[in-house]
Amino acid sequence: MSSPSIPATRLRELETLSGLPPEEHALREAASGLIGLARDPAFVEAHVLPLLAEARDAGDWYVALCWEGREGACSLQVFLWPPESRTQVHDHASWGVFCTVVGTVLEERYGRLDDGSQLDHARLKKIWQREWGTRDGVSTVLPYDGGIHRMGNPGGGTAISLHLYGPRSGRIDGRDYEPSRDYVCDRFGDERGESDAIARAKLMDEKGPKKERDVSDANNEKARRLVEEAFGQGKVELVEDILDPDFVCYDPNSESGEIRGADVIKQEIAYFRNAVPDLTYTVEDQVAEGDKVVTRYTASGTHEGEFFGVAPTGNRIEMRGIQIDRFDGSGKMVEEWPQYDLLGAMKQMGAVPES
Ligand SMILES: [Fe+2]
Repeated sequence: MSSPSIPATRLRELETLSGLPPEEHALREAASGLIGLARDPAFVEAHVLPLLAEARDAGDWYVALCWEGREGACSLQVFLWPPESRTQVHDHASWGVFCTVVGTVLEERYGRLDDGSQLDHARLKKIWQREWGTRDGVSTVLPYDGGIHRMGNPGGGTAISLHLYGPRSGRIDGRDYEPSRDYVCDRFGDERGESDAIARAKLMDEKGPKKERDVSDANNEKARRLVEEAFGQGKVELVEDILDPDFVCYDPNSESGEIRGADVIKQEIAYFRNAVPDLTYTVEDQVAEGDKVVTRYTASGTHEGEFFGVAPTGNRIEMRGIQIDRFDGSGKMVEEWPQYDLLGAMKQMGAVPES
């Protein structure tokens, strides 16, 4: 990602527009400002056309350029779409307008059928889809339920689109409606969003066919969320989303050698978090092949509750582990083969002599 200079008058103009409330007339103003920029030969020549050369090596969509206005007033981004790339279905934390500068971009728009009270669930219905060519003007989205969509490039050549986002309207990030989260068009308010987009773009270059990559990415994400968010943040509700009810974990440290059922995993999370209330998990590496994902992680925290019969010590614990997870055709995790350094953790608790 680079942030080359943009004509100061242009950015000031966009900042002014972005300060307006997300009402229809404000979006119209923003749209005409964006079109002005997209059709400005100097801008296109300096910032858009040079991207076509680097696009040849891209395996998936990515944000090639980003300019941030003052104090989060706006964000202008250039998206690059290789053939057959597309985003997840997602929403945004701000209003946005976009137009196509090179090629054709397909947009599918969705409406929400439920009341949105459950953060991790949504019932969506496709409302329309259309192709946006370079002469088709702009598409607009409003925050959250006002702009749930998926974008992609169905064509045979590279497409490039220009996006302008207004200020964030709330603290909740725009999100995907599929387990494999990627905050596509959302503002880059944090480093993670930005680096994820770039990392994804690089990662995709070296992988297999797109459909298999999509499945692998989704499975990776589920395996990561189970570790980092369910175990590491106590979001037990994720267990039902990710695990099959008859999930089996072949845990070598369990009495019977296996733990059966998603409900038992929830109890396990509660048990771990009782023993180590500040427990966090960090995924260090993941490899996906076919229906399996290998995840290497580090877990750490403070031993403040009973753990495998060891009374709380207040000791800092760090434990490493690797597990293989298998997913079924519907995308549910059905089996797991873990190995984790329980002995090392027990030593750090002083329950086992160091030598
Ligand atoms: Fe978007």
